[in-house]
Amino acid sequence: MSKVSGCPPEPDHGCPLCPRLVAYRARNRAAEPDWFNGPAPSFGDPGAWLLVVGLAPGRTGANRTGRPFTGDWAGDLLYATLDKVGLSRGTYQARPDDGLELSGVMITNAVRCAPPENKPETGEIAACNPFLAARIQSLPRLTTLICLGKIAHDATLRALGERPSRHSFGHGARHTVAGLTLFDSYHCSRYNTNTGRLTAPMFEAVFHAALASRS
Ligand code: URA
Repeated sequence: MSKVSGCPPEPDHGCPLCPRLVAYRARNRAAEPDWFNGPAPSFGDPGAWLLVVGLAPGRTGANRTGRPFTGDWAGDLLYATLDKVGLSRGTYQARPDDGLELSGVMITNAVRCAPPENKPETGEIAACNPFLAARIQSLPRLTTLICLGKIAHDATLRALGERPSRHSFGHGARHTVAGLTLFDSYHCSRYNTNTGRLTAPMFEAVFHAALASRS
């Protein structure tokens, strides 16, 4: 695993590392001062055995609410799936104060700030990687990760000190890296679900595989 050298698992609300994302945050704050408008902190169980790694907050979703995938289209399927496989308690209501609790799971993002058009640049993914590495290292019970999409897959491998070229991304693929088990899934984005590239049963099957890998 790569050294984190004192990096905390969560960036400050005013993290200055990525000029383009800072400028976007400032524009969003000016337009919507009541929104969260900052790096969305990881959400879930500090005793998690499973870490779900997303891409980045959506502008009107996690960037608005301050909780990963909350209020995002992608969150409807993610939180419904966690409920279905027994990894959450309470009812997801797309609000950070809905009382939802995750059990054994934490959700984070490869890039913590909302990027324009949901597309983080290579340098932004790299700048945020120490936070992902620190988040992974902060979870004492972690055994398993689910990476949502190739960007999350590559970022997670880098955070674990592994070259992405050594592990090809593929929906349902399973990798062993630094003593952890990584599962890949297509991202549960609106595009992927609307086009049928990812269906709810396909997504759920990845979580069942992760659960089965524990025994
Ligand atoms: N919202 C997030 O927090 N992450 C994603 O990857 C997509 C939507």
